[in-house]
Amino acid sequence: MSPTPADFTDLLGRLTLEQKVQLLTGQDFWSTHPLPGIGLRSMVLSDGPSGVRGPVWDERDPSLNLPSATALSSSWDLAIAHRYGVVSALEARRKGVDVVLGPTINLHRSPLGGRHFEAFSEDPVLTAGLAAAYVAGVQELGVGATPKHYVANDFETDRFTADVVVSQRALHEVYLLAFEQAVTEAEAWLVMSAYNSINGATASENELLETPLNSEWGFDGVVVSDWTAVRSVESAKHSQDLAMPGPIGAWGDALVEAVRSGEVEEKAIDRKVLRLLALAARVGALEGFEKPAAVPEVDTVAFARSAAAEGSVLLLNSDELPWNASTLRRIAVIGHNARDARTQGGGSATVIPASVVSPLDGLRAALPDTEVTYSIGAVVQEGVAELPLSTMTNPETGEPGARTRFLAEDGSELFAEDRFSSALVYLGGNAPVGDTSVFEFRTTYTPGESGAVLLGFASVGRGRIYADGKLLREDTAVPVGADLGAALLSPPSISTPLDVIAGRPVDVRVELELQRSEGGLGNALSITVGVEPDRSDPQALIDEAVAAARAADVAVVVVGTNSKVESEGHDRTTLALPGHQDELVRAVAAANPRTVVVVNAGSPVLMPWRDEVAALLVTYFGGQEYGNALADVLLGVVEPGGRLPTTWPREESDVPVIDVTPRDGTVRYDEGVHIGYRAWLRAGTEPAFAFGHGLGYTTWSLSNLRASATSVTVTVHNTGRRSGKHVIQVYAERPESTVDRPIRWLAGFAVVRLEAGETSEITVPLHAHTFEYWDNTWTTEPGTFTLRVGSSVSDLPLSTELQVRAL
Ligand code: BGC
Repeated sequence: MSPTPADFTDLLGRLTLEQKVQLLTGQDFWSTHPLPGIGLRSMVLSDGPSGVRGPVWDERDPSLNLPSATALSSSWDLAIAHRYGVVSALEARRKGVDVVLGPTINLHRSPLGGRHFEAFSEDPVLTAGLAAAYVAGVQELGVGATPKHYVANDFETDRFTADVVVSQRALHEVYLLAFEQAVTEAEAWLVMSAYNSINGATASENELLETPLNSEWGFDGVVVSDWTAVRSVESAKHSQDLAMPGPIGAWGDALVEAVRSGEVEEKAIDRKVLRLLALAARVGALEGFEKPAAVPEVDTVAFARSAAAEGSVLLLNSDELPWNASTLRRIAVIGHNARDARTQGGGSATVIPASVVSPLDGLRAALPDTEVTYSIGAVVQEGVAELPLSTMTNPETGEPGARTRFLAEDGSELFAEDRFSSALVYLGGNAPVGDTSVFEFRTTYTPGESGAVLLGFASVGRGRIYADGKLLREDTAVPVGADLGAALLSPPSISTPLDVIAGRPVDVRVELELQRSEGGLGNALSITVGVEPDRSDPQALIDEAVAAARAADVAVVVVGTNSKVESEGHDRTTLALPGHQDELVRAVAAANPRTVVVVNAGSPVLMPWRDEVAALLVTYFGGQEYGNALADVLLGVVEPGGRLPTTWPREESDVPVIDVTPRDGTVRYDEGVHIGYRAWLRAGTEPAFAFGHGLGYTTWSLSNLRASATSVTVTVHNTGRRSGKHVIQVYAERPESTVDRPIRWLAGFAVVRLEAGETSEITVPLHAHTFEYWDNTWTTEPGTFTLRVGSSVSDLPLSTELQVRAL
């Protein structure tokens, strides 16, 4: 039995008001206050959700980098989501983390949403199932999970202030559904309140924190704020329990004062503290309570590889894949992302993997007897990219890496360290960022190729770039927009041309002036020192790739975005692929009919050339084992296991719900319950690829559908020549209804894996709210529903009718 808040009433009685209030704000960026007198240690909270970063953002303490949430959701597999949670908890325990700040379960309302890659789906039922499985997996090992961001945090523009105007019905049926299931089914120990407002009240002061979360779903955990989202004493009157980060915040002394003056009731404080103590007991942070001793043995790197393949969606295949390795003499690997693999999106979700397998690495390793050529084809990276460790020598130690120094106003050294990366984020940790006047980065850079590079840095503030002791540029990098978090994690670049010669070392020094600033991010710094790619002659890059493709048996073009394009802190401005990637694909496909395109992006992109290529595979941000997983899929070692969790459009103008920009501070969710495929169905527009679509390497037939009010049963036959995975999808319809319902909505799903020729009878549970709608409470409209079964929202060969009675 999990400890409950009521178990700690006696302990609470031993605390003064000051002690109680202190517990309710973090002691620093990532941890809570300890109280040794009652046997309470500090609890560490960490992002998440695709791996666990730990309390420092540092390549010397790397983390497993799992495939992005969009890849996980594409598996449609609750067992994989559960495993993903278990692996996250193992990482958390390895790193001394008590609470994982995930999963992100906001919805793919618009494909432009900056954190789309970090969330699961446009469908509430699919999101809810995955959320509950992930949470259960994490918590099984005594680590808290934090479904976030409660609620309607589905876009990034003006995210701190935007007010979402949304009907109660859409809230309950769509945006709250996954939170409901994560709480009622998986008993999440925390929920994170969002930055935005919902119907006029900011999330940390919103009644939704009490109803439905507590009063209807029975949540007895901790509502932690999004970082800096607690802005007032007022929020303490609401069911907002823990304010992060600390130690400075809106509560503290002001809250003690407010309790003393009677403005805030002490029992509101007590309720929060009891929940915090219960959480501490649950994660083993309170004396007398331990985390479970037994943990499963999991090869976490192997899991990252298989999860990436399970989440890869084969959209088109003209009998091209899988490739037979023994028949490939030469393969042309093309694309910026093929070499500089994008394994994760940007923002607080970032983790630092020990190593990454790019598509190029993965294919080279898998094809030892094939000649594998590489051409960049088109530049995708914007701004400076970090220097590969193999090109950096620390001038102090002579070892690979760099030396950083933190200098006081008088030039004296406050702190120095040796690093193995030129992309550095200080957010928490020991570096005295707040007291530093100048930050200095030094490395000896030995380029691999001769030519002109753009040397520089990405950060915020005034900086100086030196090469071999000579000042090349001094300038100020100014952030776009007012989002401090975005400026920190996706900063602007300043660079200067420099001619380099392969193998000849250059002493690189960058100085950055730091400004003292108060508040949560005052002690934070992010800087990347590196080079910008040469984009001066795009046609030459395409020509080179075309020549390579022409001379090869097959070509694989890896197109995509990166962590600057898809990031927390800003929404995308276009669905088009960055740079000249569309021209590149067209040219390569024209040169070699056996061209396979791989999309390395966390969210939908436009693919105007999709009918010109032999096969099309979406791999998302594939995590650290990305390249190995891709090779497995292309060579048929495993099947691509993914089905789209979100509709992919032909044209941006076709997307029925796309807007992410507040008007007069407000985003109106006027489409109600009609988002995603529901909106496409209502608009009657054909997308490029439908929700649920995805091919494997075998064929299937479905027959003999039977339905009850709680499940459907169907016979599934693998009619092909390979073993394979099928995702059975069940949709409900209510052709004649007095309620404004979607034309069709997901009611249930199940994964089935069968050998070639095998037949099995599969029962698919239906979601508990399938036949209900929200009208102040869950309500059933009795009568006839149609249930359709198949392999995507637009491929549903079987159907049956069901009479539903009033409850
Ligand atoms: C993000 C959260 C994250 C937190 C801590 C916020 O900016 O919205 O998702 O958990 O920072 O990094």
